Amino acid sequence: NPKAAILISGRGSNMVTLIEAARAPGYPARIGLVLSNRPGAGGLARAEAAGIPTATVDHKEFPDRPAFERALDARLRREGIDLLVLAGFMRVLTPWFVEAWAGRMLNIHPSLLPLFRGTHTHAQALAAGVRVHGCTVHFVVPELDAGPIVAQAAVPVLPDDDEDALAARVLEQEHRLYPAALALVAGGRAVLRDGRVAFAADLPRAEGA
Ligand code: GAR
Repeated sequence: NPKAAILISGRGSNMVTLIEAARAPGYPARIGLVLSNRPGAGGLARAEAAGIPTATVDHKEFPDRPAFERALDARLRREGIDLLVLAGFMRVLTPWFVEAWAGRMLNIHPSLLPLFRGTHTHAQALAAGVRVHGCTVHFVVPELDAGPIVAQAAVPVLPDDDEDALAARVLEQEHRLYPAALALVAGGRAVLRDGRVAFAADLPRAEGA
């Protein structure tokens, strides 16, 4: 099974659901590391409590983004990581880093991409007046929040929603979606190929699905 690292910056609720899912027999990835760019991230303690090795690479200790990313990349390689799973990791990554992990790095974004890239996605959705919102798991490419889509989940936007209510409804779906999407990729049933996602039915010698 590929060894995955979950990259976080904050509370790590998606991280927790990924760790739990990966414990199930037959899950096609193992979570070998949780790495944060913020020393105080709440998710670090939750990962430790779950018995997962943790690391911090604090971006503030480096003069610039490339230096931070070289340290991050070196650490991940030293740990023998195969797959990167961004879960509330709030650093923009340079093309150098993205290319180094091309096809092996997933992100979850709290909107139905390609709508509402960037931050404050729930406020963006409310401002736009959409009646459906959701979350997206995608391969990471150099352009922010623009990578080929592996999976999405939708929720309704209700008349009385504020940002918090909508965020909570989406987060519940994130917790379902991310473990399923990671399983597809880790199991080789969804692959980045020529800038698109190829799914099991299209792949040579795919089993099952
Ligand atoms: C999640 O809603 C995730 O989709 C979002 O941050 C939250 C992290 O929560 N990610 C982004 O906005 C990425 N640009 P968590 O730490 O509890 O998983």
